[in-house]
Amino acid sequence: MKKIRACIFDLDGVIIDTASHHFIAWCQLADEIGIPFADEHNEALKGLSRLDSLEYILNIGGMVLDSETKLRLMETKNAHYLKLVGNITPMDVLPGVMDFMEILKSKGIKVALGSSSKNAEMILRRLNLMDQFDALVDGNHITLSKPDPEVFILGAKALGIEPEYCLVFEDAQSGIDAAKAGGFPVIGIGSLAALSKADAVIAGFDGLTWDGLKALL
Ligand code: BG6
Ligand code: MG
Repeated sequence: MKKIRACIFDLDGVIIDTASHHFIAWCQLADEIGIPFADEHNEALKGLSRLDSLEYILNIGGMVLDSETKLRLMETKNAHYLKLVGNITPMDVLPGVMDFMEILKSKGIKVALGSSSKNAEMILRRLNLMDQFDALVDGNHITLSKPDPEVFILGAKALGIEPEYCLVFEDAQSGIDAAKAGGFPVIGIGSLAALSKADAVIAGFDGLTWDGLKALL
């Protein structure tokens, strides 16, 4: 295992549990357009861009729509999402994330965000986390969404560190695939069953030490 010189964090489902807010908002939209959509699709949807997520849902319903209608539906989903995250505060940062960020700082490890979300900066501001990152790459900066590695490659470039030295933290299958495609080591956050392609899987950051992390890789 190469020495880790930087960490790239996904946002939704890694730093805060907004993966569930995205899912609920998509369920609301699917319901409104009459497409049956439930838990079984949750894992596949994680990490996909807003448009890719909509296409995934339309495909389930065998629905083909023009781009104007798709734009309107994406706006509706985003309005649902913004309503659901309306009350988040720094208290909602997932357990252990802040302590782990402190460990990274003390070790001189650079930190970037690599998220598909166009709402990422707004969420980080609400969580008071903007100062924790040396570089931010989100849905506004990329042309190809996970499982394409673009988001992580741009993050590594912004930090000036080669992918093999940048450890990615991801809760989504598409994000693990993206990291692997870009040549990044990756730790899955969640269950081994869903994230088996990661180099290692942990339930979360709570209690994670630097030595504990190295032992995983
Ligand atoms: C990802 C989430 O981080 O961002 C996806 O895992 C979401 O569920 C995607 O669809 C795009 O988010 P947004 O905020 O741009 O609609
Ligand atoms: Mg995620």
